[in-house]
Amino acid sequence: MNGRPLLSVRGLTTEFVTPEGSIARALEDVSFDVLPGQTLGLVGESGCGKTTTLMSVMRLLPAGGRITAGRVLFRGTNLLSLSEREMRDYRWKSMAIVFQGAMNALNPVMKIGAQIREAILLHDLMDQDMAEKRVDELLEMVGISRTRRDQYPHQYSGGMRQRAMIAMALACAPDLLFADEPTTALDVMIQAQVLQLLKEIQKALGLAIVMVTHDLGVVAEVCDSVVVMYGGKVAEYGTADHIYNEAQHPYTQRLLASFPDVNKPADTLASIPGTPPRLTQLPPGCRFEPRCHMRIEKCAEVIPPLLEVSPRHYASCILREGVEADFS
Ligand SMILES: Nc1ncnc2c1ncn2[C@@H]1O[C@H](COP(=O)(O)OP(=O)(O)O)[C@@H](O)[C@H]1O
Ligand SMILES: [Mg+2]
Repeated sequence: MNGRPLLSVRGLTTEFVTPEGSIARALEDVSFDVLPGQTLGLVGESGCGKTTTLMSVMRLLPAGGRITAGRVLFRGTNLLSLSEREMRDYRWKSMAIVFQGAMNALNPVMKIGAQIREAILLHDLMDQDMAEKRVDELLEMVGISRTRRDQYPHQYSGGMRQRAMIAMALACAPDLLFADEPTTALDVMIQAQVLQLLKEIQKALGLAIVMVTHDLGVVAEVCDSVVVMYGGKVAEYGTADHIYNEAQHPYTQRLLASFPDVNKPADTLASIPGTPPRLTQLPPGCRFEPRCHMRIEKCAEVIPPLLEVSPRHYASCILREGVEADFS
């Protein structure tokens, strides 16, 4: 991990006001870096804050959500201090997102080629002819035949729709692509093809990717570094090698154990008993303590700091030794 980060997230804290009026702290003190051309995995069970992290960085939180602390530095500029108008210059052109479930994100009554052209024309200064050429380029890049540009989403298979979504996200040549569970809805063969495509595109364009997934097999396949999230916090953060071969947090260890073979999908973490904490009623100590196979009494009382357990490898567990992480 060297070179200047493209994106640095520091102490990001995001809350939702629930319909009942209580506050759910969906993210607390989340920090990580994304380096140019590299892939960072954001991993954890459903509800642990992965999508909220992306939406906070893009400043696309739904109503009721707000960022209460932290910084989001894109090439050194804090996106959280920009006006909404300034922020618009960053979406699509600097960073773009491929959402979970391509069918919901595509317009069902508009031809695929036209949708991509619209994305280009909305965000880039370009004439019609150039935009048309760009559509062809993008479709070729994601392996969709030109003859299918005038088809509708329902005429595409699931895998092709996901490719079309990727093409659309690349419309304005971003430096950073967020992929939120891009392969979760697809069958295993197609998953592998979409991941392969993302790798090829990354290599060709020098793109950085943040890959959100609950599937450690996906992470092993494509990620340079990994953030393991639990209950809205960073449980562990390091290189893929740290996470796969030297996991320090009991949660990461249990995650890995629930994927005996990282090349095969598993039922989501069926082997970790219990469920993640409710964010409106967090346990007083470590958030994982109620489910932890290694807990000691103190874990229920003390909030574990994020420790640097070896250079650039961080874990938040009081059973580990290290110096408190400094992400200043
Ligand atoms: N629109 C929302 N309104 C209220 N709470 C939300 C909303 N979106 C997410 N949350 C809260 O944030 C938590 C994290 O959700 P999310 O980021 O979607 O998790 P993940 O993507 O890891 O499955 C959820 O458990 C939920 O409590
Ligand atoms: Mg999600």
